[in-house]
Amino acid sequence: MAKKSNKQWLHAQNKDQYVKQARDSHYRSRAIYKLQEIDQKDKLIKPNTCVVDLGSAPGSWSQYASEQVKANGRVISVDILPMDPIERVLFILGDFTDEAVENECIGHIGKQGADLVISDMAPNLTGIRITDQARSLALAELVYDFCDQVLKPGGDLVIKLFEGAGTDEYRRLLKERFAKVMTRKPEASRDQSREFYVLARSYGL
Ligand SMILES: C[S@@+](CC[C@H](N)C(=O)[O-])C[C@H]1O[C@@H](n2cnc3c(N)ncnc32)[C@H](O)[C@@H]1O
Repeated sequence: MAKKSNKQWLHAQNKDQYVKQARDSHYRSRAIYKLQEIDQKDKLIKPNTCVVDLGSAPGSWSQYASEQVKANGRVISVDILPMDPIERVLFILGDFTDEAVENECIGHIGKQGADLVISDMAPNLTGIRITDQARSLALAELVYDFCDQVLKPGGDLVIKLFEGAGTDEYRRLLKERFAKVMTRKPEASRDQSREFYVLARSYGL
């Protein structure tokens, strides 16, 4: 019991630490530490590459991606909510489920394709688990089809999912297109949330 409370206390401290860290740095959200941890472990974002950030606002993932791709790279970001400008980031304001918005994004990526798609998109939660799960998976399926259209051979995907019905099937779907499919639960995401990330590597190889 004592062990558990210690753990809970440490956990709460850590959470605060991420908020504080983000506030003290130039990052716009504590979400930065989720992507940073995955990137540092898996060496995902490389200089001179094209990264697409879906569900990007307020922008910490885009900030981080922009820093990693460096001067000759680019980041294309999409969100329903407005996002303040970031260097090297082309922002599209719109709903990704809207075909015109998806097509606009595909147009900006161009023929050379994208090296990496990162999606932190989450639907507005209703609190009704079954509905939230279905909406989250519907978004994930769109991202899956989008990857088919934009990823270069060998490209990668990081996508947020929520534990629940359908996630195993989704992982199986990814395995049909990607050489390796892994689960990531970054330290900064260890809260009550059922969120986790799937990292799918080497598209089409
Ligand atoms: C958890 S936040 C992303 C935080 C972001 N990764 C960061 O580091 O600042 C999820 C975002 O997904 C966006 N979103 C949800 N559904 C969307 C959709 N259909 N199209 C575009 N953006 C969407 C929300 O507006 C929200 O800004």
